[in-house]
Amino acid sequence: MSNKHLSTLKTLVVVAGAALVVRRAIRGRSPASPPGATTAARAPVSGRSGARGPKLLVTAHERLADGVVGIRLEGHDLPRWEPGAHVDLVLPSGLVRQYSLCGDPEDTSSYTVATRLVEDGRGGSREVHEQVQEGTELEVRGPRNRFPLVEAPAYVFVAGGIGITPILPMLRALPEGTEWRLLYGGRTRASMPFLEDVEKLDADRVTVVAEDEDGLPDLDAFLADLPEGAAVYCCGPEGLMAAVEERLPEGTAPHLERFAPRTTATGDGEFEVELHRSGRTLTVAADSSVLAAVRTELPNTPYSCEQGWCGTCQQRVLEGEIDHRDELLTDSERGDSMLICVSRARSTRLVLDL
Ligand code: FES
Repeated sequence: MSNKHLSTLKTLVVVAGAALVVRRAIRGRSPASPPGATTAARAPVSGRSGARGPKLLVTAHERLADGVVGIRLEGHDLPRWEPGAHVDLVLPSGLVRQYSLCGDPEDTSSYTVATRLVEDGRGGSREVHEQVQEGTELEVRGPRNRFPLVEAPAYVFVAGGIGITPILPMLRALPEGTEWRLLYGGRTRASMPFLEDVEKLDADRVTVVAEDEDGLPDLDAFLADLPEGAAVYCCGPEGLMAAVEERLPEGTAPHLERFAPRTTATGDGEFEVELHRSGRTLTVAADSSVLAAVRTELPNTPYSCEQGWCGTCQQRVLEGEIDHRDELLTDSERGDSMLICVSRARSTRLVLDL
């Protein structure tokens, strides 16, 4: 990494932060509300995400911390976004991956994302680290927001490692005088992106826990005495989010940004899926998913994360009892639609509006 390049991206991020301080970007949403919550259940959450997006040019690809690169993508008249939003990047291999936006929501000429290399991952992060470079063009879909900043009298944030990326724009968007605190944990300080940026916002409100120096974060202490009505946000490893959930008082639902599956798409037995419009009936094997079965008949069926959190594969269900295995859909959406990448059937047959 050249110092010049690193300073370019950091300058962009700092400028974005300064601009955001004067803006309000708060929307009222419940913790359970994904971006499609206000959309009729008949319209897949994926309606927009399945669409093609513009190709943007990578103009910076720089190391931000150990194992973390930041990418700036430039274009024209890009949609504005709100803190917590993410974009889908279509990688050169065709893989589609979601990344939280961490620059300036009002910047219509570029998007900034950061990604950690997952050594034993499914290949997306390695491709971003090793194949994508300055000059690469990537299709960008979105932005979409299923982790919006709700209005609240106070905020408590918990970020683990790369989980700081959706939270950083939130911190910058908080109106002056807002009561907030952040616990930011990571393996080492060197592995924690945007550490300086976060500490510069208000060091007194930020608790940094580097495990090699401090051990594990004391969540009990950090989450004790929550301000009345505080909104609690957490993004990071599954274990961290589960630990936060466990420690909150009854009736307090945290806002979680989940980048890993909590459940599997496979089940105990097979069942049938009827495609209503074509009249075809497919068998979903115990070790396969509805999405996989549907794509054998309809290969253009949209999907993206295959983990139940992006909403791209949402489909309307006309008959049958759904075994919902996602945490994205609202209760009303669950009535007659499902995410076919992870959810299955409680009945022996489902009829999809496909
Ligand atoms: S493909 Fe992302 S929720 Fe199914």
